Amino acid sequence: MAVLGPHSFTLEVPDIEEGIRFYADAGLIAERDGRIARLRCAEQQRESIVLVGGFARKRLHHLTLRADDLGGIAARVVPAGGTVVAAPDGFERDGLWVADPHGMLVQLVERPADPEPEAVDPFSINQPGRTGRIRRSAILPRTGYAPASPLRLGHVLVFSPDVSASVRFMTEALGMGLADRAQDVIAFCCARQHSEHHVVAFAKSPDIGFHHCSFLLTDPDAVGRGGVALLAKAGKGNWGFGRHTIGSNFFHYIQDPWGSWFEYYSDMDFIDDYALWQPTDYDMADSLASWGPAVPNDFVHNYEADPLVASAPA
Ligand SMILES: [Fe+2]
Repeated sequence: MAVLGPHSFTLEVPDIEEGIRFYADAGLIAERDGRIARLRCAEQQRESIVLVGGFARKRLHHLTLRADDLGGIAARVVPAGGTVVAAPDGFERDGLWVADPHGMLVQLVERPADPEPEAVDPFSINQPGRTGRIRRSAILPRTGYAPASPLRLGHVLVFSPDVSASVRFMTEALGMGLADRAQDVIAFCCARQHSEHHVVAFAKSPDIGFHHCSFLLTDPDAVGRGGVALLAKAGKGNWGFGRHTIGSNFFHYIQDPWGSWFEYYSDMDFIDDYALWQPTDYDMADSLASWGPAVPNDFVHNYEADPLVASAPA
């Protein structure tokens, strides 16, 4: 085996309080210890996001993935174009640290699987010939809904200067599967057993960087409601409500304080056994969405690849 699922990601950011405020508005629980903040889902005991404050600008520090057979992975890293590295200063030596062919750091940790979220009532719709909901309204008055509370981190999308090389590393070294792709511009990797459609995805860019994280909500209505509420608080860009072709999930993206994105999603395709899955190479017309509003101009802009405007760390 190899990568089993997502765990967390770590960002360097300029202003840690700004980051805590944004993710708390998104429904995550924050704990701050000096210049480090850990953000977790309300029903989980472990962090999904780590922020390290005091940097000139936002930058992806590393991804952390749940894995087993770390010795087997270590032996495959170099043939797949990566390197095994020491834990960076200030970070736990736990697990295996590797750099992909473009220098993106990945920490692989052996952890038990998170408990499955509690089952919710089925999302019931009335369709022609199939009336699933009678004698009650589907929608409550607005005041009847609690704020969005993410259930778990589902996936992270990162930038790559060579998407095919990134996928080769994830599949050959980390034992993931290529779920689907659109040409050599965007690609989606899953775990090989009991995996959502994607755990780590890549989009083409001149350099590496963090594009978005995605957190699970219960159903499409929760995604729409949560997106609108977070947009009102964050006050930057958004893209949604819509539905992806690749992965099939409903989505609403809200721009974070640094120009990257936070996605609420529901109803993603699930791959119980990668050996029984057929990857598709989609046209670019299907690469972003099946339907939804116009895509913001800077949706796939990698701010981490822009020249750094000089400013002293805080
Ligand atoms: Fe996503």
